Amino acid sequence: MTNIPSPGHPAVAAYLAQGYDSVVGMSSRFAAAICARLLRLQTEDGVGGPLAEIGAFEGRFFIALAHALEPGELAVALDIFSWPDDGVKGRFEANCLKHGVGPERRVTVKGDSGVMTPAELMGHAGGSRFRLIHIDGEHSRAALAKDLVLATACLSEGGLIVLDDMLHPGYPTLMVTVQAYLEANPEIVPLCVIDRETIVGATKFVLCDRAWFERYQARLLAIFEAYIWPLGADFEPHWCLVLSQDTRLAEIT
Ligand SMILES: C[S@@+](CC[C@H](N)C(=O)[O-])C[C@H]1O[C@@H](n2cnc3c(N)ncnc32)[C@H](O)[C@@H]1O
Repeated sequence: MTNIPSPGHPAVAAYLAQGYDSVVGMSSRFAAAICARLLRLQTEDGVGGPLAEIGAFEGRFFIALAHALEPGELAVALDIFSWPDDGVKGRFEANCLKHGVGPERRVTVKGDSGVMTPAELMGHAGGSRFRLIHIDGEHSRAALAKDLVLATACLSEGGLIVLDDMLHPGYPTLMVTVQAYLEANPEIVPLCVIDRETIVGATKFVLCDRAWFERYQARLLAIFEAYIWPLGADFEPHWCLVLSQDTRLAEIT
């Protein structure tokens, strides 16, 4: 495994090294390592509680996140579990078991995020708010807008929203929804951009409460020093870090 930051947990590191590629999925190992490390950072800073993934599919990314939780914290997997066939839920459960995420640590929910209320989603975690929500469900503008409203309503103090397939050539309009969301929710800002690994392992955005931005960014600067692309991301007027496996700049003669 080359050029991947430490995820901060032996169990996540073992899964990324030995299991990740065997679970069918669409998120990069680079992003999984960074998001697991962000969970570790939250734990170090006193932010605990459950996490949720909208669009868990066969569990590739979910398993990495679940291993980064502390004992007693739950990971909630939400999916319609009907694509590409009805066997996907069974494969999700089998993958979780095979890779060490037992039923006591996770809740599997077959459902449509587009019609789920915040109370229903939090109800799957005993009524708790979530410290991290990964949004990777339906990739339409309308669906992403709904998922962002749902996630925002369910987020705990110091919580993070991770958005998949940002700036993806196949989903160019999703950025329109993100921009509208950021303008309508000025208390939420991009914390960092996780650059893509491949076209399947695409770019993710991490969002956080504006009040938490400086303290999280200061920690990211130290933890991910080797992965910081020097120019950063310009969200006009907000700037945030770009974490990439390729930190080169264009050569100007
Ligand atoms: C790109 S896949 C997720 C990949 C996975 N997160 C990973 O990293 O490997 C998208 C998933 O979103 C699910 N999905 C689509 N619309 C949904 C909805 N309205 N509610 C919940 N899940 C949805 C699909 O069933 C599919 O499994």
